[in-house]
Amino acid sequence: MPSTGRRTGMFSKIQFLLLILGLPSLIIPAFLVLLMADRRTNNHELFLQPKPMDTNVAVTMRTYAPNIVRDLKIPVPAPIPPMKRCTNTIWSEDCRDPCHKYNLLTKERQRKQMIFSCVKNKLNIRTLFTKKPKYIFKIQFKDSCLHRMTDKYCDDDKAVPNIVHYVWFGKMNFGFTHFLSFLSVFKIQKPCLILLHADYVPQGSLWKYFLQIAPNIVHVQRKQPKKIYKTKIPSIEHRADIAKLDALKEYGGIYLDTDEIILKSLDIFRKFEATVSLEQNGTVANSLIMARRNAPFIKLWMESYRTYTRADGSKHSNMVPFQLARNSKNRVHIAENLFATPNSKDLHKIYRDNFDWSKNYAIHMYTRLHDHFFDEKFSMETIQTMNNTAGAIARHIIYGSKDLCPKKG
Ligand SMILES: *[C@@H]1O[C@H](CO)[C@@H](O)[C@H](O)[C@H]1NC(C)=O
Ligand SMILES: *[C@@H]1O[C@H](CO)[C@@H](O)[C@H](O)[C@H]1NC(C)=O
Repeated sequence: MPSTGRRTGMFSKIQFLLLILGLPSLIIPAFLVLLMADRRTNNHELFLQPKPMDTNVAVTMRTYAPNIVRDLKIPVPAPIPPMKRCTNTIWSEDCRDPCHKYNLLTKERQRKQMIFSCVKNKLNIRTLFTKKPKYIFKIQFKDSCLHRMTDKYCDDDKAVPNIVHYVWFGKMNFGFTHFLSFLSVFKIQKPCLILLHADYVPQGSLWKYFLQIAPNIVHVQRKQPKKIYKTKIPSIEHRADIAKLDALKEYGGIYLDTDEIILKSLDIFRKFEATVSLEQNGTVANSLIMARRNAPFIKLWMESYRTYTRADGSKHSNMVPFQLARNSKNRVHIAENLFATPNSKDLHKIYRDNFDWSKNYAIHMYTRLHDHFFDEKFSMETIQTMNNTAGAIARHIIYGSKDLCPKKG
């Protein structure tokens, strides 16, 4: 203390005056510098403030200050899209998690069903909302209103209209492979109409479940054809063979067996007046046939049934159409074997191994043979961890991905 006093005493009066006047001129700029610095810090913090969800600061920096990131050369990883949780109970295309379990017993509060009617040459199409989960719109096979509907609603610039036909005869349960087939049609082929030519509609919970998904399925009431050119048709398969040709001749479109699964859109074949693929060397796969209305190839095939006998075997189903196709190449396009390979001789390639199906447009699952030769259940639950072609295809249709759900434990 005394020394300070002594030093103060050493200042002259002029020096003291200069000090008094000069100090504020030093303090004020210093204060301003500090103030600005503080601001800048605040600004800086704002710049780099991570969003609550963001653990990756670099991503935030890129958003707010691209220059800083460039100058500092901080590698910026691509933002990871948030994991989408599948909460749906009814199938939807956006759930891609192969471990997600759909509840097959759920039903929507209302089911949507496309319905149509014809009054005095006028076609009315509308969507019906119904609380009856199993309601399906019905119409007779050759009803003129169905013709008007397919002509007007399904007509585009292609030879073959985008109508999918199934034949379903007898009282039968709708199985998992049937569900996959119908779902593949709905999801991949996206037809204007799915026509189910049936005497009885399918039964079971998967059928009810599918109805919740698809509004554009129609029950075409059709009796089993019991005779062809006065010859009795004993087997239900041969009756279905006649019905499928009838359906294609009458309306044109894409016929599918109920265990045939579509893997890629068939639109590139819709420009041909008819398309089939081979099952083996010498047989046509009649599980997928495409044709325009009244296609000459289909008419020839139907004509050929004049030589049908009760002990026909697979003659008119697979062999005769092969001969016809070979003799009238300009009437039918042959899509190699891309609709039904592996064939029934190579069933292990479907149900045991992993077959490369990247070239296939469709695959035939031979459900009856599967049930005969394989014990492993093929279902919504088992496919999640099923490491074979059948499992991969099922996951591709349901989850849009071949990936397996990792086994637990
Ligand atoms: C199919 O069979 C015929 C005769 O039976 C034969 O000439 C032809 O090479 C075979 N084609 C293929 C692709 O195996
Ligand atoms: C699935 O099977 C293939 C052989 O088809 C095998 O290479 C692969 O490791 C298997 N994957 C799993 C997860 O078991």
